[in-house]
Amino acid sequence: MISICNKSVLGTVSEKDIEVLKPQALAAAETLEKGDGAGNDFLGWLHLPSEITAAELDDINATARQLRQECEYVVVIGIGGSYLGAKAVIEALSDNFAAFKQGEGAKVVFAGNNIGEDYLYDLMKLLEGKKFGIVVISKSGTTTEPAIAFRLLKNMLEKQVGKDVAAKRIVAITDAKHGALRSLATQEGYKTYVIADNVGGRFSVLTPVGLLPVAIAGFDINALVAGAVEMEKAPADMMVNYAATRNALYQAGKKIEILVNYNPNLHFLAEWWKQLYGESEGKDGKGIFPASVDFTTDLHSMGQWIQDGERTIFETVITVEKQRNEVVIPTDDADLDGLNYIAGKRVDEVNKMAELGTRLAHVDGGVPCMLITLPALTEKYLGQLIYFFEKACGMSGYMLGVNPFNQPGVEAYKKNMFALLNKPGYEAQSAELAKRL
Ligand code: PA5
Repeated sequence: MISICNKSVLGTVSEKDIEVLKPQALAAAETLEKGDGAGNDFLGWLHLPSEITAAELDDINATARQLRQECEYVVVIGIGGSYLGAKAVIEALSDNFAAFKQGEGAKVVFAGNNIGEDYLYDLMKLLEGKKFGIVVISKSGTTTEPAIAFRLLKNMLEKQVGKDVAAKRIVAITDAKHGALRSLATQEGYKTYVIADNVGGRFSVLTPVGLLPVAIAGFDINALVAGAVEMEKAPADMMVNYAATRNALYQAGKKIEILVNYNPNLHFLAEWWKQLYGESEGKDGKGIFPASVDFTTDLHSMGQWIQDGERTIFETVITVEKQRNEVVIPTDDADLDGLNYIAGKRVDEVNKMAELGTRLAHVDGGVPCMLITLPALTEKYLGQLIYFFEKACGMSGYMLGVNPFNQPGVEAYKKNMFALLNKPGYEAQSAELAKRL
């Protein structure tokens, strides 16, 4: 089981500061269970792991198998909650150089998570003459970024293989009834999966939104869900501890939480976490700012700030006990680089000492630190971690006094963008903006 330790925050906050918040964290957990808090129409994720049926998982695995066998590439189109969970899990479990190696089954690539013209051009060049499929994911079915990518790639695929074959290589994951993507999927006869009304984008990784791309990438979604079920069924202690500690730190003036990893595979796990906590808590003028760094890489860029800058930060470090592979540092007779003192040691031993040394230095520098330990980077432990962060997020949001399940602020830029692009229906806003510019 994954675990949490908050010993190294004591000094900034006391045990008592944390203990007094634990009843609030427990009350928040109860509010989630009872479903009588703000945003209670978005609690579908709470028992999702234990409610997914074997038949549903079989169906997702069968679709994944078909796409893996038929395609060289599967493009997963989506943004935000319809992208980051799958990306995080796939990156965490993948060979770091998988893109450059021959492997069994289709390679998963992502699109629709930006509006970069060169990105789309390069992707289409890559797919020219290749067998490819598309998984298009959008809960609303109307988000601009994935809609643009889907229009381009659907067009390309249909030209390449004809409409009928293309329709068999496209899977749509969207709302049961509403949105442009639902209508399009029905009209074109695509295989579809539903994102339930009561599951928000950032809490949807354990639905087909995350599970299908992860299965296409060749990973074990049954084990991922089983891990999440373990955390769902476990006592809430770990979430209580995390939610109470980060709120105690926030009240003590620590306004920024930095999620730290020492494993490049976890970069996108942090991106997923930032969306989860940023969109859930950052509202009504409140909220811990979620940031992230990849160590030791970023010790050579952000290390100075963290050690010595404004003391408004705390760290949550994710450590992975056991690596998937072993690499031992060799002895060198000449020892010109002076590294013989670590010859014979595994690279991970050095990494762990860098981690320990950094944690000690940061605590000494006034940066309190929590530690989350994963025994290994496997589907099961990632499932536990995902559910842990989701539930702790709901609890922490309620403790902060916000609705953790809406995101009203996300609309502001979209309105301006639509007005600037002269989208029909935005004439008044277009005129207003024209005056300002
Ligand atoms: O968490 C959220 O609600 C958002 O990040 C959405 O997931 C994101 O904007 C994509 O929305 P959609 O799935 O409707 O295209």
